Amino acid sequence: MKLSSVAAALLLTLATPVFSVPLERRAAESSGDSSVPTTSAAVSATSAASSSSAPVASATPADSELASWIDEETTFSQNGILANINPEGSVTGFITASPSKDSPDYFYSWTRDSALTIRSVLHMYNTSPSDDLVAVLKDFVTFQINAMNTDTVCDCLGEPKFNADGSSYTGAWGRPQNDGPAERATAMILIANALNDNSSYVEDTLTPAIKQDLDYVVETWDQTCYDLWEEVNGLHFFTLMVMRRALIDGASFLSDDSYTSTAQEIETKLDSFYGDKDYIEVTQQLSGGADYKSSGLDTSTLIAANVAGLGDGIYTPGSDKILATSLAIKEVFSDLYAINADSNSTGLSYAIGRYPEDKYDGLGTSEANPWFLCTLAFAELYYRAIDEWKSAGSIEVTDASAAFFQQFDSSAVSGTSYTADSDDFNSIVQAVAAEADTYFARVQKHASDNTMSEQIDRDSGEEVGAKDLTWSYAAFVTAAAAYNGSPSA
Ligand code: NOJ
Ligand code: NOJ
Repeated sequence: MKLSSVAAALLLTLATPVFSVPLERRAAESSGDSSVPTTSAAVSATSAASSSSAPVASATPADSELASWIDEETTFSQNGILANINPEGSVTGFITASPSKDSPDYFYSWTRDSALTIRSVLHMYNTSPSDDLVAVLKDFVTFQINAMNTDTVCDCLGEPKFNADGSSYTGAWGRPQNDGPAERATAMILIANALNDNSSYVEDTLTPAIKQDLDYVVETWDQTCYDLWEEVNGLHFFTLMVMRRALIDGASFLSDDSYTSTAQEIETKLDSFYGDKDYIEVTQQLSGGADYKSSGLDTSTLIAANVAGLGDGIYTPGSDKILATSLAIKEVFSDLYAINADSNSTGLSYAIGRYPEDKYDGLGTSEANPWFLCTLAFAELYYRAIDEWKSAGSIEVTDASAAFFQQFDSSAVSGTSYTADSDDFNSIVQAVAAEADTYFARVQKHASDNTMSEQIDRDSGEEVGAKDLTWSYAAFVTAAAAYNGSPSA
């Protein structure tokens, strides 16, 4: 039986003392346009601009403080990204993972970091087009096409990282990493659609590169490779998700159905990652690298939903198994780090790491820490989920997601349905948005002077690991886009 909205609001307050529930703000927001599909390549500047002014309307003081910090941090992050593109001493289109050249040396262009970062730049361009940003997008393409045609140790498109002069890194490394070509194909397709360029650029420059990456994905998807964290050789949920998306994007961009059948095979494989646990287990067919990831819990499953969800309910942010996994990850991190001790009373989420057994401290292996981009993945996930539920017109609770929704409505059971615009639907949406905000608040606490490195020291809360990590800033831009009601493409 469903609760009346008053009882639901009361219950929310009792059940989730952590969260300030910004009822007014979310009510204002829920009238915003959520009809822009997340897969649309061109989020128009108008829709992005109009919806981004919605949240602050009648916010509580704490809320509007967070909203203005998110605005401020978005600008800082955009500049942080641009500062790491074409840094001094690099060839055009080189996007460094971080300006840090030693301890740790992150002065490389990782295909993954670069492709995900350029999607944040694309969001900036779609929101506020400029010739300067067109140049940045095209420079990315130039650098990547060069990389695709450069000799590499793996002698394949899955070479993980490239030097500032455009040559490939030849030292020992976990290779190949086959998420890279898939992320690059999606990025180039999004760029092609956004540029809407009638010249031969799309046909002669972008299209052949996109095909090359997609054909590589078709050839390699069922082979083991290193994961996005560069540590484990196996078949990975994250890698398969970005591959599936690339193929579906490619089939539609190239009007070529031949990619669709591989996408379907991948989909069947993806379903096998949710088995006898209440969450998605990250890797199968482990065949080398780190062997201590015993739980299978990994925040990359949620990042996959954010970057590779396609609005079709298949492992999208608002889908049941993803939500279930988010709950399991939140629980495992709740008492892992000393800094999470302040989480329950202060409106701060738990700080989230890559996976519970992680040992990478940002420089070497000792004890791992929470990451900015993993913590931000939760904020983005929940705002994307809200967008998805509004577009779908309802939330359907299943066996898998019941425990997730019970955090916000103790009467939620498998089969419960919340219809858009009902009081119960609005209460859930408000509570999930409030939960999402706690992740922003957590990041705000540790982003000293707005900067974001890779990790947050688990004991002191200080920034550690590579400074000004490009991917941290890119993750902020997309999380803020989702917060503002226009998730990035
Ligand atoms: C560097 C990699 O980039 C990182 O992901 C990994 O955790 C460490 N090496 C330790 O293997
Ligand atoms: C280590 C991370 O695990 C990996 O995902 C990333 O590509 C590199 N650092 C560079 O940021």
